[in-house]
Amino acid sequence: MPVLGMVRASFADRLPFAGLTIACCLHVTPETAVLVRVLTAGGARVHLAASNPLSTQDDIAAALAAEPGVAVQARSGVDRGTYYEHIHRVLDSEPDLVMDDGGDLVNTLHEARSELVGSVRGGCEATSSGAARLRRMAASGSLGFPVVAADVSATRRMIDHKYGTGQSVFDGILRATNTLVAGKTVVVAGFGPCGSGIAERARGLGAQVIVTEVDPVRALGAIMQGFRVMPMRAAAPGAELIITATGSRDVVGAAELAALPDGAMLANAGHFDVEIDVPALTALAIEVNPGVRPNATEYVLADGRRLILLAEGRVVNLVAGEGNPAAAMDTSFAVQALALAWLAGSDLEPGARGRVLEVPAAIDAEVAGLALAALGTRIDELTPEQLAYLDSWRLGS
Ligand SMILES: NC(=O)c1ccc[n+]([C@@H]2O[C@H](COP(=O)([O-])OP(=O)(O)OC[C@H]3O[C@@H](n4cnc5c(N)ncnc54)[C@H](O)[C@@H]3O)[C@@H](O)[C@H]2O)c1
Repeated sequence: MPVLGMVRASFADRLPFAGLTIACCLHVTPETAVLVRVLTAGGARVHLAASNPLSTQDDIAAALAAEPGVAVQARSGVDRGTYYEHIHRVLDSEPDLVMDDGGDLVNTLHEARSELVGSVRGGCEATSSGAARLRRMAASGSLGFPVVAADVSATRRMIDHKYGTGQSVFDGILRATNTLVAGKTVVVAGFGPCGSGIAERARGLGAQVIVTEVDPVRALGAIMQGFRVMPMRAAAPGAELIITATGSRDVVGAAELAALPDGAMLANAGHFDVEIDVPALTALAIEVNPGVRPNATEYVLADGRRLILLAEGRVVNLVAGEGNPAAAMDTSFAVQALALAWLAGSDLEPGARGRVLEVPAAIDAEVAGLALAALGTRIDELTPEQLAYLDSWRLGS
């Protein structure tokens, strides 16, 4: 992760988090371990909980817990109660800053530990789903400190969501199924950066790809890129593999599940496990066979059809695979680390308290520049004449 390496070197020089405590709720993976080391190099004490009980890698949690300046509350496969207990233990550190992935930490902070809200300077949220939650909190006046939504960063959306998720979702699906994608009808729900990356990779593997959307602009974009677009209800009867990436719930609901053909596979790439209506699937089934392959559960319907749910409907690339490749997380985590350092050092105007902020364009440009440097790629620079030309409104044809 060369970009994070460069950020770490600069943090070690300028110590943006000197004396500060950061509470993190992130997937406990090797890439997160590198991010945590960047934060501690910047002078922070880091308390880490998992943002998904199924994605925790216990060896990584143990290795991080042994590092100076780091405390870890995470174990793979814990139940919901223990998951939130871990978040509470992390909040016991009375953090100055928070770094969240999905919004569970910030939500718990406001709902159950509101006495701590006043001392938090700000935070950073990694995902679209978490940022959407925060925007709803901010709109209702419930958000107590500024949070930078890192998902809106241009570099992150391009490298992590589109190319990283697009690839790793298939890595997870193939590990769980070893299915042949070529020739299959693959339905991708949602055509945001994640869904468009998944749809492109599905096409690259030889699938016939159908996209479902609720946003007319995104739906039109999918058509312009050569995909078929239709409602999920119309796509379900022919769907051999459905992949959801919407950030919404019940995208594949009871009616769509009942219409699926024998052998159809269901996977979710969205942050929360609510995009496929698993309770409805369970209610439809007369028999449930977990573990027909690792991370694959078979649901047998009354008429003999079998539907295969991958990774319990949880985020498939993290549960059945290893999440996004380190190269994709490199730029994303660099954006998050720099955004948090910016918040720590900034003197935001009072109105910014309780607002969801965009990643400053300068941070995006810095991370893209570091990524290009890591690749050994140089680009042109504007000449003074070009700068003057672009600044002027007087020059025309
Ligand atoms: N698996 C991963 O590694 C990974 C990485 C990044 C983000 N995510 C998650 O993936 C999800 C999508 O991320 P994104 O950045 O593409 O978000 P986005 O919000 O930009 O795109 C989501 C798209 O889904 C569409 N949509 C919403 N409800 C729908 C419905 N019922 N049917 C069809 N389409 C619907 C929206 O109109 C939107 O275009 C989020 O939950 C995000 O947190 C996962």
